[in-house]
Amino acid sequence: MKQFFIQTFGCQMNVYDGWRIATMLKSRGMTQTENVSDADIIILNTCAVRAKATDKVFSALGRIRRAKKPDALMGIVGCVAREVGSDAFRRVPELNFVLGPQSYHKLPQILDNPDTRLLNIDLGGLEKFDELPQMTTAPTVSYIPIQEGCNHCCTYCIVPYTRGRELSRSFDDCMRDTLHAAKTGAVEICFLGQNVNGYKYTDENGKTFRLSDLIRETSKIPEIMRIRFTSSYPTEMTDDLIEMFATEPKLLPFLNMPIQSGSPNVLRRMNRPYDLDQYISIVEKLRIARPDIQISSDFIVGFPDESDSDFDETLQIAKRIGYINSYCFKYSPRPHTGAALLPNQIPENIKASRLALLDNTLNEIQRSFNISCIDKTLPCLYEGPDKTGLHSVYRTPYMQQCIVALAGKSDAPTMANITITDANKASLRGKFAE
Ligand code: 5AD
Ligand code: SF4
Repeated sequence: MKQFFIQTFGCQMNVYDGWRIATMLKSRGMTQTENVSDADIIILNTCAVRAKATDKVFSALGRIRRAKKPDALMGIVGCVAREVGSDAFRRVPELNFVLGPQSYHKLPQILDNPDTRLLNIDLGGLEKFDELPQMTTAPTVSYIPIQEGCNHCCTYCIVPYTRGRELSRSFDDCMRDTLHAAKTGAVEICFLGQNVNGYKYTDENGKTFRLSDLIRETSKIPEIMRIRFTSSYPTEMTDDLIEMFATEPKLLPFLNMPIQSGSPNVLRRMNRPYDLDQYISIVEKLRIARPDIQISSDFIVGFPDESDSDFDETLQIAKRIGYINSYCFKYSPRPHTGAALLPNQIPENIKASRLALLDNTLNEIQRSFNISCIDKTLPCLYEGPDKTGLHSVYRTPYMQQCIVALAGKSDAPTMANITITDANKASLRGKFAE
């Protein structure tokens, strides 16, 4: 029996794409291996968002080409394939296929014709979702892609190039996949899209569906206990969507809504045309709708021409909003983006010290939020055993990890009310509520 190896880098959309690829290969009678040297086909499912992510792929390919069986097929799919295109074959001559994020469903072509080279980095639309076989059992937390691509054109971001312009899947397709996931094991649905709250689909009768419609419909499915979505663009948090936080208890009180910077000057140069007052008023509306809501963000430090006072405004906004579960990155110039050509690129050492400062601030906010959860009882979702096998790992509604002793229970319940007993920056400890 033939074996495949797949390694996924990057965002949840890539994780989802990896599931679909694995399902397709299994449907052709192949089994998955964690060991590159046993594999007959090796797939790196790649991320191009920062230069480091792309570099990682090429160093992994360097290792793999020495370790693989001589006749194993090896290739890349996803954003790096689209970023580098045919140049990938020049850099790594052993590559058999280079398939972009919207053409990985062409993979069977190389299985049927292993002696050819396959390059396809077209932005061909969303037929990949329908051409590949569905997963037979869904993970407890199931990702459902509802749109792909982004029309915002932030000047630092390669994604509009790698994943193309925004395309929304039909409401019926999204709900069909959601129902299928619910019937085959999903308890939590996470709607995915590069600009997920830009979801907009108009059917043949002229009826337009938004993300709020998907949330309302999904809330009616008894098997589904929790709903979330990522990643949202601030000014597309329309009132109908904000209202969902008030009316749909299954929608988690947690929202990823990246601000990227707290400086109006930097935001303008990033081509993110909102001002801080606008952003703050969206957060206020969300807090009125759902008083216990928490917000997370991504930040970029060291964007071209970012001054100390620009950076200070980022620190201020991080504290003012009190972001939890957030990430910050050093600005990385990317091909196919406008900001890479801007003057006044920031030296690496300044980027690094700003990153450390913002990281500290975000960690401190996270720690105090985690501590504020002590003695609270939260409905949590079982994730799996911890490394020791003695404890269970649960996820709170705010995506914090919570370690719970089984305390005589033979099986960890899928959903449980857990009282938080202890907390640090990284995780919580808890016990099953009485
Ligand atoms: N450099 C650094 N970080 C970036 N991101 C996107 N493009 C870049 C870049 N060129 C970050 C943004 C985005 C997250 C997924 O990655 O913060 O929200
Ligand atoms: Fe990386 Fe963005 Fe592509 Fe996801 S969409 S894999 S984050 S570059």
